Amino acid sequence: MKKEFKKVKSVNGELDLAGDKSISHRAVIFSAMAKGKSQIANLSQGQDVISTMVIMHKLGASIYTKDRKVIIGGCGFKGFKNIKTDLDCGNSGTSARLISGLLSAQKHSYTLIGDESLSNRPMKRVIDPLTKMGAEFRTDENLSLPFTITPAKELKNITYEMPIASAQVKSAIIIAGLHSDNETVVIENEKTRNHTEQMLGLPVKSESGKIISSSSLKYYPNANEYFIPGDISTSAFHIALALLTPNSELRINSVSLNPTRTGFIEVLKEMGANISSEEIKYSSNEPYGNIVVKSSQLKNIKIDPEIIPNIIDEIPILTIAGLFADGEFEIRNSKELRVKESDRIESICYNLKLLGLQVEEFEDGFAVSGDIGKTNITFESFGDHRIAMAFAVLSMLLEDGGEVNGFECVSISNPKFEEQLNSITS
Ligand code: S3P
Repeated sequence: MKKEFKKVKSVNGELDLAGDKSISHRAVIFSAMAKGKSQIANLSQGQDVISTMVIMHKLGASIYTKDRKVIIGGCGFKGFKNIKTDLDCGNSGTSARLISGLLSAQKHSYTLIGDESLSNRPMKRVIDPLTKMGAEFRTDENLSLPFTITPAKELKNITYEMPIASAQVKSAIIIAGLHSDNETVVIENEKTRNHTEQMLGLPVKSESGKIISSSSLKYYPNANEYFIPGDISTSAFHIALALLTPNSELRINSVSLNPTRTGFIEVLKEMGANISSEEIKYSSNEPYGNIVVKSSQLKNIKIDPEIIPNIIDEIPILTIAGLFADGEFEIRNSKELRVKESDRIESICYNLKLLGLQVEEFEDGFAVSGDIGKTNITFESFGDHRIAMAFAVLSMLLEDGGEVNGFECVSISNPKFEEQLNSITS
C-alpha cells in the first residue's frame, strides 16, 4: 500500500501512546510463565506483540480482554502444552529470540517459524549460548528460522560473555536461566536495554566497565499486575516531527523513560532540542513520565559509540532529524542495523539518494551531505516499520510532501500511527 503525506504546518496537542513493545513482549511472556492470572494495562497493539500472544496462547496460556486490560492465565513452571504445530513469530525478532530461551528449558520440543524477513535474520547468536545450556536446535546451515528446539534435559548453568550488544540474546539466556536453582550469569561489555532484569528484579552489578546480570529459579515470575508505559521508540517519530516543524509544541503522556531507552532524547538534546520530561513514576520497576517537545533548530554532533545500542531502533528517525540539522549527519559503529527488520543502512541510504543527497555508505553506518534537491518522491519501506515511519515523517517536512511504498508494515509496532499524526498535525 502506497501512502501519501503532505507537508504539515504545525504539530500541537498531546498523545497517549500504546505500551512499549519491548516491555509488552516481556509482560506477556512472564504472565504466561507464571501460575495464575496476570493483568496487563496498555499493552502494545502492534503485530509483533500479537505474535508473542498467539504463541503463548498456543502453548496453553488463556488470554482475554476485560475492562481494556489483557488478562493472561499462565501455565506455571514448565507447564506449557505439548503441541506439534509451528509457533509463528511473524516479523518479530524479540519473539523469536526470547521465546527460544523460554523453550530451551521446557519439557517438550517446539518448532519456531517466522516471515521472510525474520527467516533471514541471524539466530546463531541465541543458538550458541542456549546450546551451551543444553538445548538442541535443529535447523539448516544458515542457522536461522525455522528451527526445532529440543529442551535441555537438565539445564546447564553458564557464565556467558556477550560477543555482541543484544538485549534479545541477553534476555533469552536469562529467561532460560530462570528454570534452574543454580545461577546463570550474563556479562555485557556494552549496556543494552534492561527491561528483563528490571521486570524480574534480577541482581545486576557493574565491574570494570562490564555489566553482570544473573538469573535463577528464585526470580521466576509470579502473576502480576502490569501497566506498560507508552513506547518511547514509537514516540521518537512524533518527537522528531514536532521538533522539526515550526510553531510546534507536543506533549506525550506516560511514556517509558527507562535510561537504557532514552538515548535518542539525550542525543537530540545535545543537538539543541527543546525536550523536557516531568513526573517520573514507576511500574514493575520501569520508570515513565510525560515529555514536552518544542520546535528547535538542531545541529549535528558526533555520536558516541557507547550510546549506539541505546538508540539502535531510533537511528532511522534520528537520520531524518540530522537532515534538517546544521552540519552533516554521520552515524558509525552501527553494524547491527544491517540485521534488523531490513538492512537499515541499505534502506536508509537508498531513500536518501532519491532526494539527490550525497550518501557515503560504510559497513557500520553512513554519512550524508549536500542539499535535498529532488521532490515528489516515493520512498521505499522495504517492509520495515521504522523505515516506513521515518520516511513518512520526512515526507511531512518536505515542501511537496512525499509517498511511502509498503506503508502497511507500520502495524508491526504502531497500527495507530496515522490516526495519531492526524490528531496532532495541521
Ligand atoms: C529489543 C532489543 C533490540 C531492539 C529490538 C527490541 C528487545 O534488539 O532492536 O527492537 O526487546 O530486547 P537487539 O537486542 O537484537 O539489539
